[in-house]
Amino acid sequence: MHYLAASDRYNKMVFRRCGDSGLKLPMISLGLWHNFGDVDSKDTARKILLDAFDAGINHFDLANNYGPPPGSAESTFGKIFKSDLARYRDELIISTKAGYLMWPGPYGEWGSRKYLLSSLDQSLKRMDLDYVDIFYSHRYDPDTPLEETMGALTHAVKSGKALYAGISNYSPEHTLEAVRILKENKTPCIIHQVKFSLVQPEANEGLADILDKEGIGCIAFSPLGQGILTDRYINGIPSDSRAAKSHGFLRKEQLTSTVMNQVNELKHLSNKLGISLAELALNWVKSHNFVTSILLGVSSADQLKQDLGILHQDDFTEDIMNRIKTIMKN
Ligand SMILES: NC(=O)c1ccc[n+]([C@@H]2O[C@H](COP(=O)([O-])OP(=O)(O)OC[C@H]3O[C@@H](n4cnc5c(N)ncnc54)[C@H](OP(=O)(O)O)[C@@H]3O)[C@@H](O)[C@H]2O)c1
Repeated sequence: MHYLAASDRYNKMVFRRCGDSGLKLPMISLGLWHNFGDVDSKDTARKILLDAFDAGINHFDLANNYGPPPGSAESTFGKIFKSDLARYRDELIISTKAGYLMWPGPYGEWGSRKYLLSSLDQSLKRMDLDYVDIFYSHRYDPDTPLEETMGALTHAVKSGKALYAGISNYSPEHTLEAVRILKENKTPCIIHQVKFSLVQPEANEGLADILDKEGIGCIAFSPLGQGILTDRYINGIPSDSRAAKSHGFLRKEQLTSTVMNQVNELKHLSNKLGISLAELALNWVKSHNFVTSILLGVSSADQLKQDLGILHQDDFTEDIMNRIKTIMKN
């Protein structure tokens, strides 16, 4: 059926400036790591994407290797883009990345200029796009000079194949170095994609201060700890959940009794606050000033609807943050 975006889509979303850049990002962005591969339902994928856009989510995050198989999430996105979203291209922020294994041989992963620029060309082809909005180095490469990796990002921007450069999974030390090089190249790093949730709060340890000081935006990925911080696993492991899927990156072993005890206590608190556990976890991320956008994953439109609830909620008070801290320390 012909798609026309909801006319009130921007009334529903909060936008935050990405560091010192001119780019504003929606409080909630949608990631296509899981649930958009060839193994997944195309109808569900389309419904999630279009419901997201109708709710004001105009930022979709991809990477060369998302699937499975690798590349198929970009192909799925490309098809939906072409059929439904192409007319909204100037309203969309589409990102992709290169860093992990994509093809055999010495140029199929990590951070060489050869790999990054070939991969970007492949991504553009799969998505049927002329350019992406943000191109990321997906991980630091210890065997390639950082000047070369950052030089490839600079080339991507100067050639018009990407509008902005970003990095992901870089340590505080490598972040500082990457930021310096990109600044010298006059293609500043505007964003760092960081794993950040109640079960993985590492971004707080050193990186957040650097991002703040350097004027770089932070997009927090896996804010629900891949689903741990939701009702999903409270009564076991459902057969359609990420932890049950052979291609899912969440391993059953991560659902330890310590983690599940914390989840149950968080659930108890969320009940008292009158919100869902997922909303509690997302609002905890939102309540950190250094976070520009929350990079959410969902496997259904219903999950998305529930998670969008945080847009109407105030940031947590110090008292609630402290109660959560106490639970996570136990
Ligand atoms: N830069 C990097 O290295 C990197 C790494 C990982 C991710 N990312 C980015 O971050 C994005 C999000 O990562 P993620 O998918 O791990 O995020 P997440 O938001 O932590 O987890 C998403 C999963 O949580 C569950 N979920 C979401 N809302 C729910 C609700 N209301 N009730 C119950 N369950 C709910 C779903 O699990 P089920 O599928 O089981 O239903 C969903 O697939 C990725 O798509 C990608 O764009 C980047």
